[in-house]
Amino acid sequence: MKKFLTMVYILVGLFVLGGTAKAQDVIKVGVDLEMTGAVAAFGQMTWTGIQIAHEMQPTVLGKKVKLILDDNKSDKIEAANVAQRLIKKDHVVAIIGAVASSHSLAIAPIAEENHIPQITPSSTNPLVTQNRKWVFRACFIDPFQGEMLAKFAVNDLHAKTAAVLTDIAQDYSVGLSNFFIKKFTQLGGKVVSHAFYQTGDQDFTAQLTAIKKLNPDVIVIPGYYTEIALIARQARELGIKSTLLAGDGAEAPELVKIGGKAVEGLYYSTHFDEKAVQTELGKKYVKIFRKKYHKAPDALGALGFDAYMLLMDAIKRAGSADPAKIRDALDHTKNFEGVTGIITLVNGNAVKSGVIRVVKNGKFVYVTTINP
Ligand code: PHE
Repeated sequence: MKKFLTMVYILVGLFVLGGTAKAQDVIKVGVDLEMTGAVAAFGQMTWTGIQIAHEMQPTVLGKKVKLILDDNKSDKIEAANVAQRLIKKDHVVAIIGAVASSHSLAIAPIAEENHIPQITPSSTNPLVTQNRKWVFRACFIDPFQGEMLAKFAVNDLHAKTAAVLTDIAQDYSVGLSNFFIKKFTQLGGKVVSHAFYQTGDQDFTAQLTAIKKLNPDVIVIPGYYTEIALIARQARELGIKSTLLAGDGAEAPELVKIGGKAVEGLYYSTHFDEKAVQTELGKKYVKIFRKKYHKAPDALGALGFDAYMLLMDAIKRAGSADPAKIRDALDHTKNFEGVTGIITLVNGNAVKSGVIRVVKNGKFVYVTTINP
């Protein structure tokens, strides 16, 4: 019996030792994404890109990187809960996520409080990083995106009048709408109507009936794909002919699945198109993505890829996976050649060019590049 107990102790001891040794060999990175719920397509596409990056670089500083994905269900409270879990239970050294600005804004105070760096691949609202020490992003911000849309509307579409439809449930939509309005007005355009809706709404006929009477050159919908698609359908059903314009939130296959013919000719601003790739890594990514998925790569996957690689680059430069050292290294990111462009982080934000795409025969087609 004694012998047996000694054996058990030795085995348990070995197991514990083995476990801790293993834990030291692993760097845990949390991923807080919209895998289900209203904007599930965003999380799914982002995760694809993060996985490609992880397959390309599965280790850093001689250690394995372990990705821990947790679904925030496209919900602010869940996004915060996930961040808490990743930090307190899983002990991650950094968090990648979320996509929607409202969700990243829910994560950010938790990252700040716990001194854990957060990198959002794609949240563009300026408030996400503003006055924050631990929050970074791989993308440009909405003052620039609003400018892109306004410039494109005026210079390329020759629009003089615009109606704007804002999703008041989304910080992204509220911000981007205002940045568009400011620039469009500055460029001599006139906003003839500013109407509102909320994520989950299905009937937009009241807003659209009022807009129809004003017959604007463009209707700008800086929201997310489901509502954009429904608005497009109802607008066309009402006989509205105005050109439709949206932001990066339009980008999901669901836009076309739900919108069908109604979204043909809709223009939107985004972060990436394979025709506008500027870097070697970008070319490599396009090849890998096309081979694996037999379709054109999207902006969300590309930004997810870049967020992961920015983190790996920072850990390498820091020579450590200590969260505080990772933060400092991230803060010093300079000329990082990512898939979506060359990234220098200033106050947590990337400054880079964007692209305009149009829906043509159910596909997203490159139109032009707009530089900051
Ligand atoms: N920029 C959007 C936001 O901040 C998220 C998004 C990015 C959606 C890129 C689609 C593509 O909420």
